[in-house]
Amino acid sequence: MASERPKAIERVLLDETAIQRRVAELAAQISADYADDAKLLLVGVLKGAFIFMADLTRRLTTEHYVDFIALSSYGKGATSSGAVRLIMDTREPVTDRHLLIVEDIVDTGYTLDYLVRTFRSRRPASLRTCVLTSKPARRKVDAEVDYLGFELPDVWVVGYGLDYADRYRTLPYIAALKREVYVR
Ligand code: IMP
Repeated sequence: MASERPKAIERVLLDETAIQRRVAELAAQISADYADDAKLLLVGVLKGAFIFMADLTRRLTTEHYVDFIALSSYGKGATSSGAVRLIMDTREPVTDRHLLIVEDIVDTGYTLDYLVRTFRSRRPASLRTCVLTSKPARRKVDAEVDYLGFELPDVWVVGYGLDYADRYRTLPYIAALKREVYVR
């Protein structure tokens, strides 16, 4: 049963088919790149990456392990302070593991930059990043993205794990929110 589109949605940018096709491509690329590495550990960033992480990991054909971290909140709506803090760490030790950080979106780049610096200091065997979406026009710091799903325009997006004030995460598509809904 198709549910009605929420009123706050402006337009769909990436539909379910496009997302699933791209996730499959990313999984195939990652599986090929890590074919010889038995200790691949994917670290998903909560909450936004939980759906991407679930779909991506189920399509991997190489041996891998799954873990999650959580960061301090981005604020109530669409405002960013640039201050990032780890509030839930991995359960698995990361030293000597092949790490792949899995994120939903790169906006200013502060979050991913913080994560890369934090995890690199723990001496993993290798460290790469996989990000579903990126808004290059918003970048403030250079963030290392090794696997990227899609580039997006400078609009607030929701769905497929992405939220606005904790809403709209479970929409199957990625959509732009109406501008009047968020203050930037
Ligand atoms: P950055 O540190 O500015 O790159 O922001 C990264 C975090 O901000 C992401 O992990 C998201 O939680 C959040 N974020 C940035 N832009 C959006 C958006 O358009 N929709 C939903 N969350 C976003």
